[in-house]
Amino acid sequence: MRIFLDTANIDQIREGARLGVVTGVTTNPTLVSKEGLKDYRAVVKEICSIIPGPVSAEVVVEGVPEMLAQAREIATWAPNVVVKIPSTADGLEVISTLAKEDIKVNMTLCFSVNQALLGALAGTTYVSPFVGRLDDVGHDGMQLVKEIVDVFRYYQLKTEVLAASIRHPLHCVAAAKAGAHIATVPFNVLMQMMRHPLTDVGIARFLSDWRRVQQQGGK
Ligand code: G3P
Repeated sequence: MRIFLDTANIDQIREGARLGVVTGVTTNPTLVSKEGLKDYRAVVKEICSIIPGPVSAEVVVEGVPEMLAQAREIATWAPNVVVKIPSTADGLEVISTLAKEDIKVNMTLCFSVNQALLGALAGTTYVSPFVGRLDDVGHDGMQLVKEIVDVFRYYQLKTEVLAASIRHPLHCVAAAKAGAHIATVPFNVLMQMMRHPLTDVGIARFLSDWRRVQQQGGK
């Protein structure tokens, strides 16, 4: 399972890039607006220059012609940009057209296997089931990830399953076990994935033992 960062925060993206494990970024209008940023194009271009892998930027209009025009515009911003299109009937029409033009799409706000299947048939590159938001309303978000992975495997569909709306490290473990191709995680979750108190205790112990021997004149 690959790891993308789910943020529009440039500092977090730079820090994530330094770790060498982040191979993509996903943004959405909420994440971009949280940064108080005005120039959407400039922000997406900057993210695309930091992370060479896929960077998802979402359309912020409704209607087929409007989404198509904006998606085509977003696709010109950088070679690694991926256009996020919502899981609706209009979205499906847009995805089918974009796929024929070789524009990469991340079908977002996916909450059912049927949406995912139709997105894959339309030619979306990624489909993003929103795990946390399903959990929020009392459904098992990860079950949806599993079911989509199974269906895509069964029919050998090329669309990748991008587990989104990840809220904590256990979601990452479950997404990996479910066979998600990618999990897109907030920066704090990425840090939590690596942290373990026993690692910290172990380092402190090793270093103090080492220093004690040094003080005693050992080598
Ligand atoms: O990128 C979209 C998704 O990950 C949003 O997550 O926490 O707002 O449901 P959340």
